[in-house]
Amino acid sequence: MLAPKDRIFTNLSGEGDVSLASARARGDWQTAAGVVTKESAWLIDTVKESGLRGRGGAGFPTGIKWSFMPKTRGARPHYLVVNADEGEPGTCKDRDILRYEPHKLLEGCVIAAHALLAEVVYIYIRGEFAEEARLLEEAIAQCQQADVLCGVAIHVHRGAGAYICGEETALLESLEGRKGMPRLKPPFPAAVGLYGCPTTINNVETIAVLPAIMARGAKWFAGLGRKNNEGTKIFCLSGHVNKPCNVEEEMGIPMRELIDKHGGGVCGGWDNLLAVIPGGSSVPLLPASLCADVCMDFDALREQGSGLGTGALIVMDKRTDIVAAIAQLSAFYKRESCGQCTPCREGSGWIMRTMQRLVRGDAALADLDLLESVAHQVEGHTICAFGEAAAWPIQGLLRHFRSDIEERLRQAHRHQKTAEVQDNDAYSN
Ligand SMILES: Cc1cc2nc3c(=O)[nH]c(=O)nc-3n(C[C@H](O)[C@H](O)[C@H](O)COP(=O)(O)O)c2cc1C
Ligand code: SF4
Repeated sequence: MLAPKDRIFTNLSGEGDVSLASARARGDWQTAAGVVTKESAWLIDTVKESGLRGRGGAGFPTGIKWSFMPKTRGARPHYLVVNADEGEPGTCKDRDILRYEPHKLLEGCVIAAHALLAEVVYIYIRGEFAEEARLLEEAIAQCQQADVLCGVAIHVHRGAGAYICGEETALLESLEGRKGMPRLKPPFPAAVGLYGCPTTINNVETIAVLPAIMARGAKWFAGLGRKNNEGTKIFCLSGHVNKPCNVEEEMGIPMRELIDKHGGGVCGGWDNLLAVIPGGSSVPLLPASLCADVCMDFDALREQGSGLGTGALIVMDKRTDIVAAIAQLSAFYKRESCGQCTPCREGSGWIMRTMQRLVRGDAALADLDLLESVAHQVEGHTICAFGEAAAWPIQGLLRHFRSDIEERLRQAHRHQKTAEVQDNDAYSN
């Protein structure tokens, strides 16, 4: 369990107020002014040494991503873009940073901008976060007045509520005023990003932990968690837990400990657990049998065939109709596909319709093979990783619950047959 002294987000639950004065009293804004006197290369090396991996879902090492940016200022400006779109179902950690810890994010922006040789930062915030956008604007105004931004200009840009605008290239399109549609990579944003200029896109949480890493040192951060999975992480607990919450913990905490200690346990007790989607809706679910011992980090979850994603656990107890739950997600992915790649546009519709047939019980057993085949044809065959996000929940369901679904279909077929016989009898009588 994370020791209180190692906690970065000390106001994550919003007990304290968010004014600059209160944030300073909690330790914010004591680091950036010193950090901007350092060389960019030193900052990038420090982030590499800390082991920080992006908190937006893919877990790409932050220092390595930063090192792709040009090393000197050229004719084209460099940009930092902060991804505050947070559309992943089950995920609301960035929202609470924006609400209760905006100064950690802003100080992190100044540090990252300096490392990336950027003078302008855009924070792209999802449209539904109207109040959070207002709070952020207010915090920026306070910082400007107190002159703590070290010459960095920070702008807030509100999105219009499309999940796909969280994908980094779609986000850039949207920021430039076009429809948010992913672009093929390469070129990567570090070479051709916002307005065709070198750009780094990072998640809110990734940026907000930077002041702590700089103040306490890369070794301190790297000493938390385990190799390749360092630091702390904000986990979101939702679904069938007694106390849904956001909590910062050490990376690698056992899932059961996380649910029991912070979520107040599974409703009806641990034995009532059916499954958990451990990383927002886009990763394969894990059945209860795998949840007891798994740890919450990138590698441990990947070894179990799932992923850490955004670190948002959607807990489902035995009351859950798992087929209906995953069907709900399929409808979400069908709706949110931007439609430009055929496998995603058509595949997400096939998946959704087949899932709906499974829920109604009027699917054939062969439809399970069809579902599996469509999911595999979407995965890895699209412009952006939305394809995987749409396919993985289905693959997880079939991997772990196929025999239950087959039994459910057989029962539904038996009921249909009985009903037909009764209808025929009634007719002939
Ligand atoms: C469909 C889709 C939606 C995404 N939504 C978000 C999001 O809401 N927030 C986010 O930080 N990253 C999101 N990402 C990941 C971003 O593309 C990008 O990898 C991330 O912002 C990089 O930040 P990081 O390196 O700090 O994790 C999404 C990716 C995909 C494919
Ligand atoms: S995978 Fe889907 S969301 Fe991504 S670009 Fe293709 S159609 Fe659009």
